[in-house]
Amino acid sequence: MKLFVIGCFVVLMVEGVFGKGVLKRDVNEKALKKDEDVYGELNEQDTDLQKDQEDYYDEAEVSDNQPLDNGARRTSVKLDLLSKPETFVQMIGETVRLPCSVSSKDALEVIRVWSKNSNPIFQGDINIKNKHNYLLLPNGTLQVVLEDAEDFGTYSCTLLLSDSERPEVEHKIIQKTSANITALYSNNKMNVFETDDSATLTCEVTGYPRPTVSWYKDNDKLADGESLTIQRVKPKHAGAYRCFADNKIGKPAHQHINIYVNHKPLIQVDKYIVNSDHESDAELICDVSAYPAATVNWQKDGETIVSNEPKIKLERRRNNERNVLIIKDLNEKDFGKYSCVAWNSLGKETKDVNLVKTPVVRKFEKNQSNESTKDVILQWKVESKQPISMHELQYRKQGETNWKTISPDVTDAENDVYLIKHTLKNLEPGLYETRARSKNGHGWSEYSKTVPFEGVLAKHGAHHSKPKHNKKENRLQESSLDIPAQHRSEELVPVGESTSSSTSLTSSLILVLLTVLTLRQ
Ligand SMILES: *[C@@H]1O[C@H](CO)[C@@H](O)[C@H](O)[C@H]1NC(C)=O
Ligand SMILES: *[C@@H]1O[C@H](CO)[C@@H](O)[C@H](O)[C@H]1NC(C)=O
Ligand SMILES: *[C@@H]1O[C@H](CO)[C@@H](O)[C@H](O)[C@H]1NC(C)=O
Ligand SMILES: *[C@@H]1O[C@H](CO)[C@@H](O)[C@H](O)[C@H]1NC(C)=O
Repeated sequence: MKLFVIGCFVVLMVEGVFGKGVLKRDVNEKALKKDEDVYGELNEQDTDLQKDQEDYYDEAEVSDNQPLDNGARRTSVKLDLLSKPETFVQMIGETVRLPCSVSSKDALEVIRVWSKNSNPIFQGDINIKNKHNYLLLPNGTLQVVLEDAEDFGTYSCTLLLSDSERPEVEHKIIQKTSANITALYSNNKMNVFETDDSATLTCEVTGYPRPTVSWYKDNDKLADGESLTIQRVKPKHAGAYRCFADNKIGKPAHQHINIYVNHKPLIQVDKYIVNSDHESDAELICDVSAYPAATVNWQKDGETIVSNEPKIKLERRRNNERNVLIIKDLNEKDFGKYSCVAWNSLGKETKDVNLVKTPVVRKFEKNQSNESTKDVILQWKVESKQPISMHELQYRKQGETNWKTISPDVTDAENDVYLIKHTLKNLEPGLYETRARSKNGHGWSEYSKTVPFEGVLAKHGAHHSKPKHNKKENRLQESSLDIPAQHRSEELVPVGESTSSSTSLTSSLILVLLTVLTLRQ
């Protein structure tokens, strides 16, 4: 019964189309018969068809729309399928128009079969699935409103021209999806590596268009790509690695993975000397990295310090890596040398921290020289609970025994920290060294580390003394006065600073060597 109905429909429809005589090509009985078979086949493949059939086998409609007519049947105009395969990347809610145009004005009458993933959805203008979001436009274009994931896929339009000619065009509608991380793992199940292991982290992502994947550790970008390899793992490689995937659709995705590296404790101390005062508090800090996790304690005079609040507090911060010893209301016997001791199954490590009442000089360093004057700017910090009575800055030419001593002004402190900046002007060119200390009611601080620097002749002081070891520069100056000022001046380049002049580069290399040799002795 069913096949009979289908057969009738096909004959009616095909006759309607060809009977009108609009399709200008040879059609014989055999071809019609074939088309009928095809429809039969197509329909048989389609399991949804049965339940849908009443909806679309409306004979009245078919005959209304396609009245039988016996016009010219034969012509030799060639019909071509013009539309080329296309891929559409869309999101749910959007509308796509899939073209299937034919090289004839009368192409309206051509029979098209639109299929989705090989199942017919339109035959002629019959909406087989009766899906309200599919619409066949008069020019053969299939309009699809993307309602759900089912609407994405491969759509093809087949022209039924004859039994041998069935040109087809295939379009793809791919769903635009935001980036998603579906798996994040390393080549070690437990993510625990030995030193010098090779570690590979893999981040599997989904999304269309394909997301770009990148890796971050401590907010530093490491690399792009779905996998990250560390050839020889070191303790410093331990930590959280973040995989970040983005394809500009919706929100980017990110996840992290923790990598562990077996190693004995490593201790890092920022302040080996800590200043405080009687009746004040002190905080000693010791950062320990270790895997397996270390046991850490503080010792003084060989005795382990135990928490004894409110006087003594032991704290752990920053993922338990920072070990803090807080001592309140200090008295004389609280000052002195403390040791931070850390151990795990792989070893033990100790670092000392001194608690003092005298000032502490920190970050004593040469700042960038003043570009125009070449003055040497020195800068440092002094920490002292007790007010500072005097700062002292010393410098000398390397090799000399006597220091020149300067007493920079004592300015106000901010939270017991004094910031000092001193500019050395009009220095004779040469290699120098400098150090600093400060004094409070309890006495002098230790000297800072000694910092080497290079005296640079200011541009305007150029006439007094010319550097002997820089002949080329002099020659350059005399012969070409039109070169830029910075090249003309008899400047010496401070160690470590770069310059465009190769002469200066050479001389600074020599100076670096000299400095290294001097420091070695
Ligand atoms: C078909 O018709 C629609 C609606 O009129 C139009 O937007 C589309 O561009 C046409 N397609 C082709 C291939 O002519
Ligand atoms: C992302 O992937 C996970 C794991 O496969 C899945 O559970 C989740 O639903 C996905 N999220 C999105 C937005 O696709
Ligand atoms: C140099 O001094 C300036 C201003 O005091 C400061 O901002 C800068 O960080 C210093 N640079 C260095 C290398 O110490
Ligand atoms: C560099 O020196 C010039 C001249 O003395 C001065 O005007 C300028 O402020 C100085 N620059 C810095 C950064 O100290």
